[in-house]
Amino acid sequence: MIKASAYTFKILRYDAKEPDTKPRFATYRINVIPGLTVLAVLIRIRDEIDGTLSFRSSCRSAVCGSCAMVINGKIDLACRTQVAVFDTDTIILEPLPNFEVIRDLVVDLTPFWQMYDKVQPYLIRRSPVPEKEIPQSEEDRRRIDQFVNCILCACCYGACPVLAREPDYVGPAAAAKLERFVLDSRDERPAGALSIVNDEKGVWACDTLLRCIDACPKDVRPTDAIVGLRKTMLKHRFQNLLGKAKDEA
Ligand code: SF4
Ligand code: SF4
Ligand code: FES
Repeated sequence: MIKASAYTFKILRYDAKEPDTKPRFATYRINVIPGLTVLAVLIRIRDEIDGTLSFRSSCRSAVCGSCAMVINGKIDLACRTQVAVFDTDTIILEPLPNFEVIRDLVVDLTPFWQMYDKVQPYLIRRSPVPEKEIPQSEEDRRRIDQFVNCILCACCYGACPVLAREPDYVGPAAAAKLERFVLDSRDERPAGALSIVNDEKGVWACDTLLRCIDACPKDVRPTDAIVGLRKTMLKHRFQNLLGKAKDEA
């Protein structure tokens, strides 16, 4: 028989509809068998102990990106984190930082999606659309591999220290998405399209502290995207200056 061990779960609870009440930790003592994930425990608490506990989840397999939270001080997906990996029998769960809390572990992701929208996260074509698909070589596809893996979980956004002090910063996920299309051999966005992130609230705000890379559950490296976008912008700037100098000569 599989032996269960007792764990204490401390979950930060708050309801924005009751702003006069302060956030508080609610404690639950749960028997956990090896292999059980934090999300499985949350579902059990909600279904068997306290139906008011709020959190997001869907796929339960690190695909949908909805269950991001802080687990014993580390941002991760609850569905891919097994309880037994911790060297303690106390598991502390808190909502993602850098967002307003709606209720318990559910945060308001509106700013995240606004930044995502801002970078035009889709293929932009200027040449006529071909009758069949637009071909892409294996080598070209490899250039965007890591960025395509993004599941928009917002772990990186929650981990970013720049966003903690500058909520208008475009943020790591949106930058990674933009670079994904800039690098895509099928995309034809004009150089000027990068101007949306070419300022002190765009990619130049990043302190390159790499916390977004540490937090990403899908091995995306948003800082690579930010550095790549900066290089592309500098290249365009240099080419413009060179063109002007030639015109004046
Ligand atoms: S590298 Fe930049 S985007 Fe990533 S966490 Fe640090 S400041 Fe934020
Ligand atoms: S880059 Fe990683 S951490 Fe950020 S949203 Fe995408 S998958 Fe999540
Ligand atoms: S439930 Fe989908 S990523 Fe965790």
